[in-house]
Amino acid sequence: MEVKTSLLDNMIGVGDMVLLEPLSEDTFLENLKNRFDHNEIYTYIGSVVISINPYRSLPIYTPEKVEEYRNRNFYELSPHIYALADEAYRSLRDQDKDQCILITGESGAGKTEASKLVMSYVAAVCGKGQEVNKVKEQLLQSNPVLEAFGNAKTVRNDNSSRFGKYMDIEFDFKGDPLGGVISNYLLEKSRVVKQPRGERNFHIFYQLLSGYGLVVTEKLKLDRDFSKYNYLSLDSAVVSGLDDAANFRTVRNAMQIVGFMEDEMLSVLELVAAVLKLGNIEFKPESRCNGIDESHLKEMCELLGTEQSVLERAFSYRTVEAKMEKVSTTLNVAQAYYARDALAKNLYSRLFSWLITRINESIRVTKTRHKVMGVLDIYGFEIFEDNSFEQFIINYCNEKLQQIFIELTLREEQEEYVREGIEWTNIEYFNNAIICDLIENNQNGILAMLDEECLRPGTVTDETFLDKLNTICAEHQHFESRLSKSSKFLTDHSLPHNCFRIQHYAGKVLVTAGFVDKNNDLLYRDLSQAMYKANHSLIKQLFPEGNPAKVNLKRPPTAGFQFKASVGTLMSNLQTKNPNYIRCVKPNDKKASHIFTDSLVRHQVHYLGLMENVRVRRAGYAFRQAYEPCLERYKMLCKKTWPHWRGPAREGVEVLLTDLQVPTEEFAYGRSKIFIRNPRTLFFLEEKRKRCLEDLATLIQKIYRGWKCRSQFLLLKKSQIVVAAWYRRYAVSRFFVTAQNSKQTCARKLLRELKYQKKCEQAVTTISAYWHEIQLNFPVFVQMQKYFLDLKRNMPSMSPIDKSWPARPYLFLEGVHTELKRIFHLWRCKKYRSQFTEDKKAVYEEKLKASELFKDKKALYPSSVSQPFKGDYLEISKNPKYQKLNNAVDEKVLLADVVNKINRANGKGSPRLLLLTRRSVILADQKTGQVKASVPLADLASVSVSTQMDGFFALKLKEGSASAVKGDFLLSSDHLIEIITKLHRISASAAEREPINVDISDEFLVQFKHDKVCVKFIQGSPKNGNSASCKRKNNRLLEVSVPTSP
Ligand SMILES: Nc1ncnc2c1ncn2[C@@H]1O[C@H](COP(=O)(O)OP(=O)(O)OP(=O)(O)O)[C@@H](O)[C@H]1O
Ligand SMILES: [Mg+2]
Repeated sequence: MEVKTSLLDNMIGVGDMVLLEPLSEDTFLENLKNRFDHNEIYTYIGSVVISINPYRSLPIYTPEKVEEYRNRNFYELSPHIYALADEAYRSLRDQDKDQCILITGESGAGKTEASKLVMSYVAAVCGKGQEVNKVKEQLLQSNPVLEAFGNAKTVRNDNSSRFGKYMDIEFDFKGDPLGGVISNYLLEKSRVVKQPRGERNFHIFYQLLSGYGLVVTEKLKLDRDFSKYNYLSLDSAVVSGLDDAANFRTVRNAMQIVGFMEDEMLSVLELVAAVLKLGNIEFKPESRCNGIDESHLKEMCELLGTEQSVLERAFSYRTVEAKMEKVSTTLNVAQAYYARDALAKNLYSRLFSWLITRINESIRVTKTRHKVMGVLDIYGFEIFEDNSFEQFIINYCNEKLQQIFIELTLREEQEEYVREGIEWTNIEYFNNAIICDLIENNQNGILAMLDEECLRPGTVTDETFLDKLNTICAEHQHFESRLSKSSKFLTDHSLPHNCFRIQHYAGKVLVTAGFVDKNNDLLYRDLSQAMYKANHSLIKQLFPEGNPAKVNLKRPPTAGFQFKASVGTLMSNLQTKNPNYIRCVKPNDKKASHIFTDSLVRHQVHYLGLMENVRVRRAGYAFRQAYEPCLERYKMLCKKTWPHWRGPAREGVEVLLTDLQVPTEEFAYGRSKIFIRNPRTLFFLEEKRKRCLEDLATLIQKIYRGWKCRSQFLLLKKSQIVVAAWYRRYAVSRFFVTAQNSKQTCARKLLRELKYQKKCEQAVTTISAYWHEIQLNFPVFVQMQKYFLDLKRNMPSMSPIDKSWPARPYLFLEGVHTELKRIFHLWRCKKYRSQFTEDKKAVYEEKLKASELFKDKKALYPSSVSQPFKGDYLEISKNPKYQKLNNAVDEKVLLADVVNKINRANGKGSPRLLLLTRRSVILADQKTGQVKASVPLADLASVSVSTQMDGFFALKLKEGSASAVKGDFLLSSDHLIEIITKLHRISASAAEREPINVDISDEFLVQFKHDKVCVKFIQGSPKNGNSASCKRKNNRLLEVSVPTSP
């Protein structure tokens, strides 16, 4: 969005003097000073820009500033030269109006700088492109060239323009520069031969001697020492802050850009060198001709390609031609010097004019031009102690400019009033036309009189000229002279007798001698002809009147005449254009920054007619503004126009001013602008606006804060809703999961309760059933109670072998009684067993095994029940008798006993030691303890015993096993039950083997070597005590007779 600003914003003092209240010279100065102190060097008077020289570089000419002012309205931003340049350029480009920028002010006020700023601004904002850029560069670079040749250090300005310059920049329809034309006015050529104290000759002389390498010494034969040249002032030859050598490089570069060829540049510099050498030629009074200092003349002639004799002659004689008659007179020394200086001045000034012509050639527009912007940088009004012809001419020029300024300003003002339909009120102002008339009137004007005097035959001097003036101009209000007929100045001692004084618009100027001579500007024909004869490419062009073929007996036009004519052309040129004024003001005489000398500025304000300018500008209405920006600026002051006015802007402004009760005489409505009569009214509006803006700022702040808080609140609320939504989602899902879980828990709980209830119901049912039964069977219960109590009292002992049990009292308890006995016995046995140690348990397990194997199968068994199973009857590990045997057996001996081995042949027994280990059965000699046979249990197929009381048993070997070679063993032992039981248990504990079969039968077969012998048990009478006896009956029978009872 574009920010609308105004000149009225952030003003230091007032930016436009038209708004100054009260208006007086003092307040005017105070405002200028106030702004100058705040680095505001520009101030407006309407559309006129006052520029005060800051004498230091300010950061206000940057590319950013150019952009800031580009395409902005004149009053939109604070006063600036760029605003004026922009206004002029846009009006040229968009409205097809030729423009001129008129820059005036006294020497050192900043005119040249201002003209350069305008040109650089226009160059920056106009179109771009290779061709356009070249043109721009050429236009801009013409400045350093002209400054080098036309500027000099003066007491007022280190870079003072010693010529007037008007440059027309020509543009095409797009606003792109095409080229231009430069006009120059009256170069101060007297400076070439003589400079006032503290001043210098033109820069180029010093620049040439400081730079240009060897060319200076070898080609131009110059000495770098300034003091070697009469024409160079020595007291201020070196200017601090001015680098002549560097500037020379800049000038050469600029000449190249502008289009000077290398040989052209050299020619120009040769002429500059020739002028220096010319100044060194001296004449001696005694012998005029021979008295010429030849060395310099010679060098000069070499440079110019002239014959030395020709020049020598020209400096010695003067030829006057009249009516086909040539008269030659000899020049005296003074005349020779005069001729020399005249030649030097002419040579230089013609060279300067040629340079301008040459630059014009380069920047000449070949295409059809569309519009023109003229920039006038002319010397300002000058009042010196000694004011001569130059000052007279310069001040005349300024007088003309002032006239055109007043005319154009008034005309512009008037035109605007007409355009806007506002009634024009006559404005009182000083019209300087009368002064201009005093100078330029063709019949009795000073210049006309001077020409008349100069052309008059006979002796003509400044005195005769002054006499003439005294007769003719004596009555003029602005002419003052002691010798005039008017008695007014007879006693004015500030006015010498040989001078006259002109009352210019900007002050009184006392003019002294030198008029006639300077106006004549004589260069003896002999010299111009000598120059024409020169072989130098340039010099011939500069002195065309020296051509003998074109001898013109008419006198050349005088300097005054020429100047008047060129000023006339300039004025008519300017009048066709839209003027833009820059009035430069010099703040002090010291060329110093930050110093504002009141008296000096007051003087300038006075003679520049600035106060008059303000008065003209506000004669009718002080301030005017188009309706749209006016409404935009003040619409907040009225409710009806704020914030938007929907109708036409003019009506909006009317409503606004009516609402604000501004007196009607204070304003007038133009066609497109509102005109405000007094600055007071404008400031009243401004003040109101300022207050209103403060209120608006508060309102905006309030609304912004509210909006900010509300947005924050809404954001929070939105976030809160999101958070709440998410939380609710989370809570619901959690609740759902919990409910799901609790449902299951509840269900389980319910189930538990139901089950419990059911149990309770069942219990109730049972108890009630029981109770009913008790109710029904009470006598039975009494009997039972008695039965149980009796049983308790008569309980048998805890011995498992105690078979006693109380008698059953009632028949109906038969079943219970038997069952209780069984249960009691089992319980008692369990109690009994629980007391057993591990060893005892093993003994009982063996006994149990023995019972399983033999109970009710062998008659011997009952007698074995009470016999404890000792195992090691021989105490083999302790008895030294069996030590050898014990050592031979490497396993733990589980049983050791003496058995009888039954002889196969006769059936008689012979004692043997039998050892039983986990893996084998070992038979050893009873006496020696020598192992007779060791049978691995794995080789044992079975054991056979009889059903009777005997202790015989046969160890039957597996057929084919290694132990079966000798046949089965038939043995007898008192501990048969124990041996067989142990054997069976050991074999049963080996995982890989089947337990040994125990066959109990009274007849069984035994394998004795190759024969199978039947061992048969018969009951017999006891012989040999109670022991059984064995007898071989035949090959196939072995009979064992067992006593019937033990
Ligand atoms: N806008 C500016 N900013 C900074 N310095 C400035 C400005 N204007 C002028 N000056 C300084 O003042 C000096 C004199 O300015 P300038 O040469 O433009 O004066 P002038 O009016 O052309 O004088 P003259 O009539 O003698 O030619 C400049 O050399 C420069 O140092
Ligand atoms: Mg200047």
